[in-house]
Amino acid sequence: MKGIILAGGKATRLRPLTLVTSKQLLPVYDKPMIYYPINTLIQGGIKDILIIIAPDYSGQFLNLLGDGSEFGVHFNYAIQKEPKGLADAFIVGKNFIDGDDVTMILGDNIFDPSFGSEIKSFDKGAMVFAKKVEDPERFGVVEFDKDMKAISIEEKPENPKSNFAVVGLYCYDSRVTDFASKLAPSPRGEIEITDLNNIYLKNGEMKVNVFDSLWEDAGTFDSLLHVSNQMAEFTKLTESKKLV
Ligand code: TTP
Repeated sequence: MKGIILAGGKATRLRPLTLVTSKQLLPVYDKPMIYYPINTLIQGGIKDILIIIAPDYSGQFLNLLGDGSEFGVHFNYAIQKEPKGLADAFIVGKNFIDGDDVTMILGDNIFDPSFGSEIKSFDKGAMVFAKKVEDPERFGVVEFDKDMKAISIEEKPENPKSNFAVVGLYCYDSRVTDFASKLAPSPRGEIEITDLNNIYLKNGEMKVNVFDSLWEDAGTFDSLLHVSNQMAEFTKLTESKKLV
């Protein structure tokens, strides 16, 4: 299993903070944000990681993270020139994936520091992670059966079919590059991960892994502040300043 961290994008909602650096390098309490998705992949047993970054501030990622040896893993880097959508990760990452299974995590999605070993349960097809939320209409929403097989995934539906939001962590088998290459851009001009997931879903190959621990998308001022406070609590409780 290989890993991809999607850490490009424009981060318009965090301006002016993101006029001086990338969103994924902003602090979440005492660490740069990207340390958290790195940690989640490492918890999942992944050692070969591609970090996809935007051209702006790309040198800052290299200075901070280097080749990954300090984390006990190997980092590769790729530039995504334009934010073409989440599923573009598998086109940018085609040579890196090279026929293996792959887990993709969004660079601004923060999970509990002990979360991640669930990635190891991936078998075949695709697996998404879902968390129960109060306001599902703000998210991609997955409906699933008693065997945890996905029945539908809808992007920000007006009438959600469940309360389970699909979070920014996804596992796929090696066909993902071919499937992503065939996707047409949506009306907003992006290659959508929901369209990619629907290919697996229609084949009956989409599993749902429900979890209940901390998860936050740190893409707004309020969520960034909230998750920073949560991590401050966590650090004090565990008396551990080291993530990985
Ligand atoms: P978003 O939060 O959807 O987009 P953004 O980061 O550009 O922020 P904003 O909406 O405020 O302008 O992206 C989620 C994550 O995926 C984030 O880590 C950035 C990353 N991303 C890419 O790397 N490439 C892309 O093409 C897109 C759409 C997102």
